[in-house]
Amino acid sequence: MLTKQAPKKGAAADHAGVSGFAADASVCGDTVPTRPIFDGKRKLRVLVCVSGGGTNLQAIIDAKKAGRLENAELVRVISNKKDAYALERAEKAGIEGICVSPKDFPDRAAFHKAFLAAVEEVEPDLIVLAGFLVVLPAEMISCYRNRIINIHPSLIPSFCGMGFYGLKVHEAALARGVRVTGATVHFVDEGTDTGPIILQKPVMVKEGDTPETLQRRVMEEAEWILLPEAIELIAAGQVGIVDNRVLIR
Ligand code: GRF
Repeated sequence: MLTKQAPKKGAAADHAGVSGFAADASVCGDTVPTRPIFDGKRKLRVLVCVSGGGTNLQAIIDAKKAGRLENAELVRVISNKKDAYALERAEKAGIEGICVSPKDFPDRAAFHKAFLAAVEEVEPDLIVLAGFLVVLPAEMISCYRNRIINIHPSLIPSFCGMGFYGLKVHEAALARGVRVTGATVHFVDEGTDTGPIILQKPVMVKEGDTPETLQRRVMEEAEWILLPEAIELIAAGQVGIVDNRVLIR
């Protein structure tokens, strides 16, 4: 459901987008009043959570530099690992990067409290999980309902859920012999990779692919395109959720 529609620009267009949303959302023939998850009337404050290399973070930074994501600002990057290269990418781009590591706290509850405090401090409108390998506290998911998105390197519902992360996703896709895989951006709910799907993009598997070559192609052809695009759509006030399904206007 990759949309070709360009995000609307400017306050008047944003307003038109919002009212358009409320007027025509229809599920199973019934008109359901709905609103976009962000109204697009000011800049979307985006917090990005990372654990590793941060190529998806880089894709967001590059999109911003290229003049896309006009209606979004990157307010903070949080890593759970001190040595994550993503933190260097944030620094180079002039974005505040901080580490909140479970290793620095006596137990999970103390880590969760500190993590949540680091999130709340910057009052984000949207939290982007870009390769963030931490299970979010349930409290955070309910506080930020429909305001947390994740990128997953397969076409959900294939090769997702518990245990499917990193190279394991691509190993499983190759072991199953699928001809097409891809990536998905979705909202985060209490399940693992079960939230409403925002965007998906297919990627062809090639003869002789290894988990590593497939991982790279999925990133290049899908992840790095989809994640900035999803943020752009949300920032422009074009994304809503009805009946657990995403509507894009
Ligand atoms: C990506 O494959 C993403 O889909 C997954 O974790 C990986 C993160 O890579 N959730 P990077 O840190 O953005 O380079």
